[in-house]
Amino acid sequence: MLLVSVAGCDAGKTGPDLINLMEGEGIYKAECASCHGAKLEGQPDWRIRRADGKLPAPPHDASGHTWHHPMEQLAAITKLGMVPPNAPPGYVSDMPAFGGKLTDRQIRHVLAYIESQWPPEIRASRAERLQQK
Ligand code: HEC
Repeated sequence: MLLVSVAGCDAGKTGPDLINLMEGEGIYKAECASCHGAKLEGQPDWRIRRADGKLPAPPHDASGHTWHHPMEQLAAITKLGMVPPNAPPGYVSDMPAFGGKLTDRQIRHVLAYIESQWPPEIRASRAERLQQK
């Protein structure tokens, strides 16, 4: 059982890192996948605002823009939702604030899981992009 689940994760990592990533994956599946997709693919036509004025959930995989943003910003959005300074005042969004549900540690782990799914070239572009700021 354990071997099977470990093989399904990032087998290159060991120890606490791997356990944190697996915890992050579990949180992702339970809390995020319903909107952001089981494979981080997001909702269809995620760039197009719906009739109710809200945006669909963007992908967290390489095709989205999550990887453009620093971890602190992603953590703030996950904890507080789409509120200033990460959105204009009064902005209406389906993105829930997870602050009352997930601890900061759980938020770090779920974001680490998302990050672990980015291919090496995306991680390299990300490092470059974030250095320029
Ligand atoms: C009910 C649907 C829903 C759930 C569940 C949800 N999200 Fe979102 N999320 C959204 C939507 C919609 C947006 C886009 C908000 C906007 O721009 O208006 C978004 C945006 C985001 C963003 C900012 C966009 C980006 O690409 O940087 C992050 C980060 C994020 N979500 C993380 C998470 C995490 C982590 C979870 C699980 C703990 C989660 N979301 C669960 C709907 C959801």
